[in-house]
Amino acid sequence: MRIYSFNNHYIGTANRKFVKSAIKELKAMCPDVKVIDRFPEGIFTFRINLHREVFYYRLQENPPIFLRHIHPIDRMFFLSKGIFPPDASARAVTSLSHLIKPGRKISVQARRIPGEYDYTLFTFKKKLDPVLANEHYGIPAVKKPDQILSIYVSDSSAIDHTQSATCQLGECRDGPPTSWEGIVFMGVSTPQENLCEWSGGQVRFAREDRQKSRAEFKLLEAFEVFPIPVEKNGFALDLGASPGGWSRILLQKGFLVTAVDRAPLDHEIQSEKKLRFVKQDALHFRDEPDKYHIITNDINRDPVQSAQAMTAIAPSLKKNFPFVMTIKLTGKSFEKILEKVKKRLEDVFDICGIRQLFHNREEVTIWGVRK
Ligand SMILES: C[S@@+](CC[C@H](N)C(=O)[O-])C[C@H]1O[C@@H](n2cnc3c(N)ncnc32)[C@H](O)[C@@H]1O
Repeated sequence: MRIYSFNNHYIGTANRKFVKSAIKELKAMCPDVKVIDRFPEGIFTFRINLHREVFYYRLQENPPIFLRHIHPIDRMFFLSKGIFPPDASARAVTSLSHLIKPGRKISVQARRIPGEYDYTLFTFKKKLDPVLANEHYGIPAVKKPDQILSIYVSDSSAIDHTQSATCQLGECRDGPPTSWEGIVFMGVSTPQENLCEWSGGQVRFAREDRQKSRAEFKLLEAFEVFPIPVEKNGFALDLGASPGGWSRILLQKGFLVTAVDRAPLDHEIQSEKKLRFVKQDALHFRDEPDKYHIITNDINRDPVQSAQAMTAIAPSLKKNFPFVMTIKLTGKSFEKILEKVKKRLEDVFDICGIRQLFHNREEVTIWGVRK
């Protein structure tokens, strides 16, 4: 099995609907970025003519909104018939030994194009962890790793053999073996370099019996990826709260919650002692100044109006305390709408982060603090 080396090649991931915007963000960083192949689920390979450190520095300085996850392609190999990808990856990892830091926590994150296979993604971890521990003195970990060994496996069927540039990558100019069934990309990086600690930026949470809405995952993810401060026993205002998922999370975090919506709340949430429900239009809701320790807003209406609602209620948020809101990005001019929203919010808030999160559908999540 021949293993190819690469420089300046990466795998990027974005929501399928926002792949173009993610590529635009890369082009803003380096105009001659070249997309090589596109895979299902918003995954694409690209080459960028920047030194790796410079690329990572620019990503940290100017965090992308739509590019959700990247990892380097340090090695690549073709899968001939009969080769078991997890075994082949365990053999190939030896060629990455110079990148693996001994004595540090390392996590194996494998992904592959959708389909039915005779192994699971966990099989990669099972096969690779002993190699990482015994041969490279790494400490296999799942959470809070220092390094991530990323693996992406694609069938040859996902690549257009005549058009694809994958086979021209790096040192691989002599082309693939005559019969090949798949391709494996591998790379070593840190969670920060990948833009997200989770595999492919897929921040997963277990479903709970008492969960009120799918929307709960959006707020959980925002708390996971943004350093949003939480004031225990503080006051929270939740705009567009029905059926009550975000309010439930805020209650769980110890807030006393005021929930505002035109629609009713779920009965169980509404009967919570630490919650006050106000059934009215959130755009006209007002309260006393400097009261709240956080304001959240998941109103599913016009983004600019929703931003207006935020600036109107801002005096009720204590200075330097956070807000979290979602902005629906439908239609073709969503980039312009986002700019308008940012401008509005910046009158009264410092924006700390904007990201198209894994649990956002056609929307982004913004967080910031009151000026
Ligand atoms: C996506 S849902 C919110 C889900 C909620 N975050 C949860 O976790 O259960 C959007 C909510 O915004 C509410 N909404 C839309 N426009 C509103 C307005 N002007 N005032 C109050 N609520 C509004 C809708 O009634 C709907 O309940």
